[in-house]
Amino acid sequence: MQYRADKNAPIGLFDSGVGGLTVLKYLINLLPKENYIYFGDTLRVPYGEKTKDELFSFVTEILNWFKSHNVKIVLMACNTSSAVVLEEIKDNYDFPILGLIEPTAEHIAGLDADKIGVIATSATIKSKAYSQQIIKLSPLKEVYEIACPGLVEIVENDITHTEQAYKKVFKYINPLIEDQVEKIILGCTHYPYLEEIINKFTKSPNMLVDPAQHLTEQLIHKLKELDLLNNSSNSYRKYYVSTAPDKFVKAGQRFLADCKEAILINPIK
Ligand code: DGL
Repeated sequence: MQYRADKNAPIGLFDSGVGGLTVLKYLINLLPKENYIYFGDTLRVPYGEKTKDELFSFVTEILNWFKSHNVKIVLMACNTSSAVVLEEIKDNYDFPILGLIEPTAEHIAGLDADKIGVIATSATIKSKAYSQQIIKLSPLKEVYEIACPGLVEIVENDITHTEQAYKKVFKYINPLIEDQVEKIILGCTHYPYLEEIINKFTKSPNMLVDPAQHLTEQLIHKLKELDLLNNSSNSYRKYYVSTAPDKFVKAGQRFLADCKEAILINPIK
């Protein structure tokens, strides 16, 4: 049966905290007429240090909540959820659910670069989702994956421009530079907040690949295919969190000025 939804219905997207705002920024630029509901699970950040069972249960709660808001599509603006939970959960809902790994792997497979670095959370790296998808599409590529515990907390605590941040970024990026990777996937949506520092250690600014761009392209394609693009002129964006809305807004505004107010919902029901 053809999937039917209202064009005006919102797009739902979520992350453990402010990371997914880096995805929303792309969306607002390319699809400004859409309505968006953003959920940041600030109570349970960092997702990258959680087990698969914990993540499955958090994401189920969030998707049920989106369902009650009649969303037309959901984006996992979180690599950890995309890597660990998406495959198992995506068919449990009427609405389509898109993640970051697949569209990024497709982009990488088409590039003329053989050595690919990935920086991401411990859970994403443990899942090997990026390396498996890339090698499936392009078996000759070499993928170097580095888990980066601690970077998400630096972004959430809004201390990206400190010596602590600089040292941690160097520790994680340097092995990739020594391995002479040609591209580095920012495999956690929090990492674009650290792009300026990461670029201090890379050979060229064009080395970084932001999966948000490729997810946005996939979304546009999907909405066109389903005839669900919204063209109304009064679009809205709403931000929800599971704790500390003021802290979320302060850190999030560094990336997305549109995020001026967040609504506290806890429990998410
Ligand atoms: N920003 C998310 C990701 O892309 C989650 C990070 C975390 O909470 O550990 O993986």
